[in-house]
Amino acid sequence: MTLLFGLLGRGIGYTLSPYIHNTVFKLHNIDAEYQVLDIPEDELDHRIEDIFERFYGLNVTIPYKIKIIKYLDELTQEAEIVGAVNTIKTRNRRVGHNTDTIGIELSLRRNNVNIDGRRCLILGAGGAARAAAYVFHRNGAEKIVVCNRTRTRAEEMREHFKRRGIPIDVVEWERRNEVAGESEIIINCTPIGTLSEESPLDPDVFNREKTVIDMVYRPRYTKLLRDAAARGAKVVDGLTILIYQALEADRFWLNIDIRDDVFNAVEKVLEDLV
Ligand SMILES: NC(=O)c1ccc[n+]([C@@H]2O[C@H](COP(=O)([O-])OP(=O)(O)OC[C@H]3O[C@@H](n4cnc5c(N)ncnc54)[C@H](OP(=O)(O)O)[C@@H]3O)[C@@H](O)[C@H]2O)c1
Repeated sequence: MTLLFGLLGRGIGYTLSPYIHNTVFKLHNIDAEYQVLDIPEDELDHRIEDIFERFYGLNVTIPYKIKIIKYLDELTQEAEIVGAVNTIKTRNRRVGHNTDTIGIELSLRRNNVNIDGRRCLILGAGGAARAAAYVFHRNGAEKIVVCNRTRTRAEEMREHFKRRGIPIDVVEWERRNEVAGESEIIINCTPIGTLSEESPLDPDVFNREKTVIDMVYRPRYTKLLRDAAARGAKVVDGLTILIYQALEADRFWLNIDIRDDVFNAVEKVLEDLV
């Protein structure tokens, strides 16, 4: 019997997820199919049980990453600390997980980026920013600073992590270039740069001592990453993170290893699409 997997969200016609997961299933010889579930917000409540019954596993995206939590039996530590779910296992107990953390962590490892003892700057205070903060903390960051356009949201993030024993500093968005100058690790967790030539930072803040990570994956090499690379910084792109977070979802659903050959095959498929 073909196992069904799906992406639950709204207005998600642009998603790359079916290309990624259907490639993974094929390479692992798994009889499975990945579908897109574009569900209007006022229909979620009465359709969710049927979706859980029919689908072996789900990814979750905008606008359901937080709303879905009340339908679940359990959260993994990653989902609990990030406060958002992007992957669900539906069999036996309904377990919510957040794979952005592992996606970021494996991408850092692939690029030999060491976080231990480093000063880290996070731009943004949404779900991706929270995943980054948790990764930096559990890999020994010396300091984590968050700059967000809306300061109150950054303060909410600080309180959320403080309750879990993780210290974070908040600095005004207007001072982000100054903080970037003092940071060794910088991650963009805003959509700035998506299909545009904008960058959240002044190119002069980069040098060869820094690592710059972009969650944005369209284009793969954003202006931020190109500016940073041109000044000798190490860069980690959002497409690598996207692939690893998806491979972590497949591991979580099907208990399959995250393999380099599968990463490479998925990367090849996506390079033609972004
Ligand atoms: N590569 C991957 O695997 C991966 C995984 C997850 C997310 N992402 C990408 O990461 C980005 C953030 O995702 P998310 O889930 O964290 O989104 P989110 O929860 O909606 O948070 C977005 C954040 O970006 C800030 N922001 C939005 N537009 C801005 C602008 N014009 N100027 C300054 N700040 C702005 C928001 O600030 P306010 O609080 O002021 O609104 C907020 O802090 C998206 O582009 C998403 O596609 C990539």
